[in-house]
Amino acid sequence: SIMREISDLDHLESQLKQSLPVSDVKVVSGDADQSEEVKSLLGQAAAQTLTQYVHDESIVTVTGGSTLAAVAKHMKPLNQIRPLFVPARGGLGDMHEYQASSICVQMAKQMNGSYRLLYVPDTVGHEVYSKMMEEPAVKDVISLIRQADIVIHGIGDALKMAHRRKADPKQLELLKEKSTVGEAFGYYFDQKGKTIHQLNSIGMTKEHLTNDKTVMTVAGGTSKCEAISAFFKWGTSDVLIIDEAIARHLVKHI
Ligand code: F6P
Repeated sequence: SIMREISDLDHLESQLKQSLPVSDVKVVSGDADQSEEVKSLLGQAAAQTLTQYVHDESIVTVTGGSTLAAVAKHMKPLNQIRPLFVPARGGLGDMHEYQASSICVQMAKQMNGSYRLLYVPDTVGHEVYSKMMEEPAVKDVISLIRQADIVIHGIGDALKMAHRRKADPKQLELLKEKSTVGEAFGYYFDQKGKTIHQLNSIGMTKEHLTNDKTVMTVAGGTSKCEAISAFFKWGTSDVLIIDEAIARHLVKHI
């Protein structure tokens, strides 16, 4: 008889499925910090996994970042399925090609879907913020975000993200002082999953991460290990798409 050899990655996946509150886990080999190819593999795996959840009426809300950009690159048209893509948040101070809105447009193009955007500046003062929230165009998109059935998002190391977004020294100091480890959806959180700081941009909040949505989390690279562990204390995920570096860390620490 032929015994099917369970590969190392399959084994990691089933171990994580048992120990984490998720319904599915995909692990790609390698460490995204070490090679761009691994990020591309992650993108491919995530794009492939999305096809299992998406349907014609789907509203998919997406965040930014280089990992999500890799996901967008690998999306392909699906027969009869034309989802609607919306950015989860307005700009968070990211580079143009890493912004949720740019990624949203690319995903829609690659899947022959459609998109709606949040035309708002990155961060605004309190007064402008409340005014903008009353704009019908903004309200519409926020309502689509609320109705989304799929959330696909990235996670980052807190300090790396703060630097990338050119946070001011005072903010950096606060993040360090409070031992902030991770960032997702514009929220910076510590090891215990406590929110330390939230970027003031328009769009999805933690309250929108309801369990009627399928939340797909895509992340790779040793530098994100702490951030991912903390993310599970901060929020929730249904489908985890990670690389081997993170998978090995998680099996040891959960
Ligand atoms: O800025 C959007 C975002 O999704 C963040 O929430 C996350 O921390 C980051 O991008 C991840 O970026 P990257 O995929 O480039 O590591």
